[in-house]
Amino acid sequence: MSKVLVTGAAGFIGSHLVDRLLEAGYEVAGLDCFTDYYSPEVKRRNLSRALAHERFTPIEGDLLQLDLDDLIRGVDGVAHLAGEPGVRSSWGERFPTYLERNVQTTQRLLEAASRGGLEHFVYASSSSIYGSSDGGPVAEDATLRPASPYGMSKVAAEELVRLYARERGVTSTVLRYFTVYGPRQRPEMALSRFICAISSGEPVEVFGDGSQAREVTYVSDVVEATVATLETKPKEPARAYNVGGGTRTTVGKLVNLVGETLGERPEVRYCPPVPGDVLSTWANLGRSRRELGYEPRVSLEEGVARQVRWVLAERRALAAA
Ligand code: NAD
Ligand code: UGA
Repeated sequence: MSKVLVTGAAGFIGSHLVDRLLEAGYEVAGLDCFTDYYSPEVKRRNLSRALAHERFTPIEGDLLQLDLDDLIRGVDGVAHLAGEPGVRSSWGERFPTYLERNVQTTQRLLEAASRGGLEHFVYASSSSIYGSSDGGPVAEDATLRPASPYGMSKVAAEELVRLYARERGVTSTVLRYFTVYGPRQRPEMALSRFICAISSGEPVEVFGDGSQAREVTYVSDVVEATVATLETKPKEPARAYNVGGGTRTTVGKLVNLVGETLGERPEVRYCPPVPGDVLSTWANLGRSRRELGYEPRVSLEEGVARQVRWVLAERRALAAA
């Protein structure tokens, strides 16, 4: 495989994947329409390193509108990360946006893939398809029981990937990422908000009592899993893999870790629990280890320290600009 199309290329995870694929010698086409889910300016900054690279082709456009046949014909692999990501904001009137950006984009890409002779289509799914883990690590064959409309939209997209694999022969794999963090993390995610508040001397908001637990995954581990998947011939059509960090934390402990890393004492404002927020996520990584050779490498303490350093450096760079 030599040329890869990354959708959602300007986003948090997509931009890291683009940088890594370029470093590994691939030709990369990076597609994004810079939605306003968060600042498009932040997304443009995410891509600044890639834009200087001669093997990178930026494509600014919406997957719902572009002619995808031409795009797919020119590449060997697709990593489909574009989507509407927030769990808690997916209730009510915003749901059609989740259907468009998570389900319809996937269907349009798969249609084009089924006509284009693609080597491998990799879909970025989510731990939110499982709902809450009841006390132990969750394996890929667990019942899918999403707790939010976002999670349901990711299940629907996964089902499309399985359908097009079975009925239309699209060679594909599903990766289920578990709460990803690190530099460029989306600004509304917990760790971003905690670092921003504590480093500014403001209170952090904790939804519920802070005992909810998350398997968290440093972004370079997610990226390595995605590159390894693109390069691995699928064992069966649309096989699914958990991509977790091999480490868990409660929200309360995460607040304390950020405080320790910054050398500040966090002030916490407890807010009501938010619908759709699961009590626990926990990844069984046995299949990913065995079949993808996946091994998470970055510890929570190291990963948080790296994200803290990145936030402070970005703040200094923006202040100096
Ligand atoms: P992100 O919002 O930073 O990136 C998504 C990108 O997709 C954005 O830049 C957006 O502009 C683009 N996009 C959305 N709709 C588009 C369309 N119609 N056409 C072209 N571009 C479009 O999100 P992220 O955190 O990097 O997540 C990337 C993917 O990984 C998403 O599919 C998300 O559901 C999944 N995921 C993320 C996490 C996490 O913890 N961040 C965990 C599990 C799964
Ligand atoms: C994350 C991503 O945002 C989703 O895109 C992804 O699909 C999902 O992981 C996944 O793994 O599938 P989430 O786990 O909710 O979703 O990640 P955060 O937004 O970082 O929230 C983590 C926890 O912190 C949640 O319980 C949330 O309620 C809590 N939180 C968040 C707070 O208490 N305060 C905040 O200010 C923000």
